Amino acid sequence: MELEASIFVQFLHASFCFFIFTLSTLSLFSLLLFFLKPKLIWCNCEICTSYLTLSWSKQFDNLCDWYAHLLKNSPGKTIHIHVLRNTITANPENVEYMLKTRFDNFPKGKQFSLILGDFLGRGIFNVDGDSWKFQKKMASLELGKLPIKTYAFEIINSEINDRLIPLLQSVNISGEKQGKVLDLQDVFKRFSFDSICRFSFGLDPRCLELSLPMSKFATAFDVASKLSAERAMAPSPLVWKIKRSLNLGSEKKLKEAIKIIHILANEVIWQRKKMGFSSHNNDLLSRFMSSVDDETYLRDIIVSFLLAGRDTVASGLTSLFWLLARSPKVVFFILEEADRVIGQNKELKSFEQIEKLHYLQAVVFESMRLFPPIQFDSKFCLEDDRLPDGSFLKKGTRVTYHPYAMGRMEEIWGPDCLEFKPERWLKNNGVFTPENPFKYPVFQAGFRVCLGKEMALVEMKSVAISVLRRFQVELVAPHRTPRFSPGLTATFSGGLPVLVREREADHNQQS
Ligand code: HEM
Repeated sequence: MELEASIFVQFLHASFCFFIFTLSTLSLFSLLLFFLKPKLIWCNCEICTSYLTLSWSKQFDNLCDWYAHLLKNSPGKTIHIHVLRNTITANPENVEYMLKTRFDNFPKGKQFSLILGDFLGRGIFNVDGDSWKFQKKMASLELGKLPIKTYAFEIINSEINDRLIPLLQSVNISGEKQGKVLDLQDVFKRFSFDSICRFSFGLDPRCLELSLPMSKFATAFDVASKLSAERAMAPSPLVWKIKRSLNLGSEKKLKEAIKIIHILANEVIWQRKKMGFSSHNNDLLSRFMSSVDDETYLRDIIVSFLLAGRDTVASGLTSLFWLLARSPKVVFFILEEADRVIGQNKELKSFEQIEKLHYLQAVVFESMRLFPPIQFDSKFCLEDDRLPDGSFLKKGTRVTYHPYAMGRMEEIWGPDCLEFKPERWLKNNGVFTPENPFKYPVFQAGFRVCLGKEMALVEMKSVAISVLRRFQVELVAPHRTPRFSPGLTATFSGGLPVLVREREADHNQQS
């Protein structure tokens, strides 16, 4: 009898504990639901089902390819992913409407700021209003200066001649010498990281030195970019918000990566202070430091500029070299133009020479048409609105323009839109002629157009010409098509493994 009573008491105790545990878990969950205010939308339409079940991945390698397919087949070139409350468009008139005509109704918005807030804080990529205007004004003053192109050219060319070329020479195939496989994407990330730090902050992290351990800061950048992008792809913010509040899984990793990035940014500020700064210095950071005292704000500004200058340029260069390795005829024309403008066996000397390379400029634009470094970009609709194609947007809807899909639209580029054809940019006897930026929003367009476009173009063209004149680049897996990793900028999953071979003295042979 006593035994039975004891079992009964234990049972009551266990049930009570279970009840209390369940009640607390439910209360905690309801509290989280209340504070985090998730907006879950359920939809059974074909597109949403395919998105949620990932069934699109049976037919397409990349999400952007699936979106491009859907947009191509949509009459207005606009689609709606209801579960994400996301309207995606590849219609240039809609793009102009969002980025220029009704710019004030399409800010980045609070939702975007929240998703990227931990990583980018109040940096230019993540703010609207006065803070954006201030950073844009400061950056434009510096980047708009006339000598800035020459300054960028000098930094980039010293990075090419003192580091990139010796690095490629150390692994190239030449005569009897066996080559080593090199991940060109990794090399370009190091290259652009050094370049943007030297250019924007007047400091040299020496990432491209010959001893190659990948800097932990660069890795932290990759992790933070990937995990922040994954937040944006989730149908509801609830999951990442709960994980963040409990410091679990991907959110724990994101927090750790951001901590490392902040250490780097604080170090940059400290170094610059030690070296002394004034608004007369040629770098962006000095200009910002002359008028901002708040170190957290300065840190956020630095992170945004690092992201702007490193990943985009590296991404553009990676896809450019992937395309060039498959297009010997285009390489032949690049080399021919270089010999004509720079002189055979003569080195690239000045920014003015680069400006004369029209065919090369066309190649770079054409490559980013097919592989834009920022494949899509989202804004949030502040008040109810209607796009020029008639799509109604309820207040709070996310609206995304999609340069990757736009580069694949017959209506914009004609029936040969999938071909890599630099000639489409050359008019009047080979003069490079830009397209309407709302048809080609690779650098965005309108009021928030990229501020580093000129620097990016100098960088990409200088690397292309310097590398191609010395080396032939061969893909290790020539038949593999690009698969992209999730991230804020397009990154080839598995990198770009290549072999480089020293070019014959008479390089004007189609190879
Ligand atoms: C091929 C290389 C590049 C591409 C394709 C590119 C593209 C873009 C795009 C699409 C945006 C708009 C992003 C948004 O608002 O969400 C942007 C903004 C920006 N870019 Fe670039 N970018 C490149 C290189 C650079 C470089 C090298 C720098 C720095 C020197 C830079 C500085 C900026 C800044 C400061 C903004 C913010 C502009 C604003 O919000 O007003 N970019 N870029």
